[in-house]
Amino acid sequence: MIHTRKLTRNFVVKKETVEAVKGVDIDVAPGELVAFLGPNGAGKSTTLRMLTTLLKPTSGTATVAGLDVAADPAGVRARIGYIGQGNGGGHSYRVIDEMIMQGRFYGMNAADAKARADELLTSLELTDLAKRTVIKLSGGQRRRMDVALGLMHSPQLLFLDEPSTGMDPQNRANLWEHHAHARRARNHDRPHHALHGRGGFDVGAGDRHRPRHDHRR
Ligand SMILES: Nc1ncnc2c1ncn2[C@@H]1O[C@H](COP(=O)(O)OP(=O)(O)O)[C@@H](O)[C@H]1O
Ligand SMILES: [Mg+2]
Repeated sequence: MIHTRKLTRNFVVKKETVEAVKGVDIDVAPGELVAFLGPNGAGKSTTLRMLTTLLKPTSGTATVAGLDVAADPAGVRARIGYIGQGNGGGHSYRVIDEMIMQGRFYGMNAADAKARADELLTSLELTDLAKRTVIKLSGGQRRRMDVALGLMHSPQLLFLDEPSTGMDPQNRANLWEHHAHARRARNHDRPHHALHGRGGFDVGAGDRHRPRHDHRR
């Protein structure tokens, strides 16, 4: 599902080269749930941005969902979902409208987008928030909406960067339940894999909520 070889990204800042990612080899199989851990500045976000085609590698190769990120970035984008470190979504729209709009951006027709939004609102327990304006959501609720946005077009693979940042301990713990829920709710032709940038799950949460390799299909 993900294969990288010597994936490298340098930034030049004031004539100094910052080696943000130095020759990373990753192999992630279909069905795996993988977490990327490391301190601030370790290069997690930079790696995720290369894998999601937002940033070109300085050198090395990466294939994601069967396609080379450099040769076919549009193809990769169609097959993945990406939830960045910041919040997605506008402020002034309702949650349901934001979700439908996201689906439409990915080329879904109005009826399919509506049906998919309803499905995700249910599986992520967001139904009560559907008509609320995005700006009125709490941090944790908003993060959950971000997850829903990332899943609208039924991607084969979902990337999340610090998905639990800003969440209270309860929400943080619940996030894994929501992911498990979303995985259970998927169709058979819709495998759902996830690669997380750090998140805070591993720190202080019970074992039950630790990121783990998960080979269920
Ligand atoms: N656009 C950029 N320009 C210059 N340096 C950057 C840029 N993006 C990231 N970096 C640097 O690359 C390193 C890795 O950053 P990042 O991937 O954001 O780390 P993480 O997500 O693991 O905290 C840091 O030293 C950061 O300052
Ligand atoms: Mg980061």
